[in-house]
Amino acid sequence: MIVGVPRESYPGERRVALVPSVIPNLKKVGLDVIMEENAGLEAGFPDADYATKGAKLLKDRGEVFRSADIIAQVLCYGSNDKTGKADVPLYRRDQILIGFLRPLGTLETIEDIARAGVTSFAVELMPRTTRAQSMDALSSMGAICGYKAVLVAADTLPRLFPMLTTAAGTITPARVFIIGAGVTGLQAIATARRLGAVTSAYDMRPAAKEQVQSLGARFVELPVEAKDAQDAAGYARAQDESFYSRQRELLTRVVAENDVVITAAVIPGKKSPVLITREMVAGMVPGSVILDLAAERGGNCELTRMGEKVVERGVTIIGWLNLANSVPHDASQMYARNITAFLAHIVKDRKPRLDVKDEIIQSTVVTRGGQVVNPRVREFFQLPVLAAHS
Ligand SMILES: NC(=O)c1ccc[n+]([C@@H]2O[C@H](COP(=O)([O-])OP(=O)(O)OC[C@H]3O[C@@H](n4cnc5c(N)ncnc54)[C@H](O)[C@@H]3O)[C@@H](O)[C@H]2O)c1
Repeated sequence: MIVGVPRESYPGERRVALVPSVIPNLKKVGLDVIMEENAGLEAGFPDADYATKGAKLLKDRGEVFRSADIIAQVLCYGSNDKTGKADVPLYRRDQILIGFLRPLGTLETIEDIARAGVTSFAVELMPRTTRAQSMDALSSMGAICGYKAVLVAADTLPRLFPMLTTAAGTITPARVFIIGAGVTGLQAIATARRLGAVTSAYDMRPAAKEQVQSLGARFVELPVEAKDAQDAAGYARAQDESFYSRQRELLTRVVAENDVVITAAVIPGKKSPVLITREMVAGMVPGSVILDLAAERGGNCELTRMGEKVVERGVTIIGWLNLANSVPHDASQMYARNITAFLAHIVKDRKPRLDVKDEIIQSTVVTRGGQVVNPRVREFFQLPVLAAHS
């Protein structure tokens, strides 16, 4: 069987789905690798390194799609809403497609993929279980985003992060507050602490408290309790507007006391809750920074503009997307390991083993045999239940 990796086509995307070091592991499970030329170049993986590890390089993108049984991408059509559609005519029936598909994005896109007849897997739908941990690309990218968010904020803030005691006096440390302590928020906490900032964090899931404290940060307790804060998979559940309104009220003082606020409070498949209002921004000291990691789904700050950096009343609000793309080498390495673990899971004896009873396969498969087969995606778009897959 052959895995093909086309060059990423989303404008500015620098990551690549497979790196040279995973090729021997793929060979062990009977998978040969073909790469479109220069696919890894911007992530620091030249063609020669792939060739040394035994990959075949092809100049023509169409030929990669024609030759491969499995296509692995970072941003497939779906998450690549700019240029991804151009790949659809290249898909072959029953070819396997793996990558970020944005399965709860737009139905039209998912139906385009279904019509092409590919069996597609969305890495976003990976279950958060111990078994699937090595395949969890969302956690990999989340950790990188959390790290990079702190560096961007530190670079923007007109103050130092650490305390400095110098002959010219003592500089007090910056105060950093993180809202949402999932994988991304926890990595932001760890990074802010390493840079010497006085770091605190808040999450509505009670389980997050211990994790925040284990990183040496202060957990901010708010006298407001979420109903069924987390689902069976460990994800936060959306709350009603009165809960969010109470949160905003209680967060106002905390936000005003900090120099940097990093927000990473997202709810899978939902618009992110607004936790910082225009008035709360006005209450911050000029020069403060808000870095909104929820920008892609509306943002946790009312003033966030997706993909942009804006300054309001002296406060800089950054809503940049895809921060993982700014660390393409390690992001690709982690992603490639996640994809390799997933491929080793679905390929047995040189054949795909797509057992729909397997939790990992059942959760991640989006389209198969011309249909949208994923129950969660069908429910999200209010499509009738498919008897065959349930
Ligand atoms: N393989 C695994 O076992 C695995 C992998 C990754 C994550 N997890 C678990 O999954 C859970 C979710 O982690 P994640 O990184 O996907 O989270 P995520 O990326 O969905 O992060 C969102 C965070 O924001 C919080 N949040 C949402 N709305 C909020 C609000 N209004 N106020 C405050 N906080 C709010 C959530 O509780 C969550 O912690 C965690 O329990 C994590 O430990 C397990």
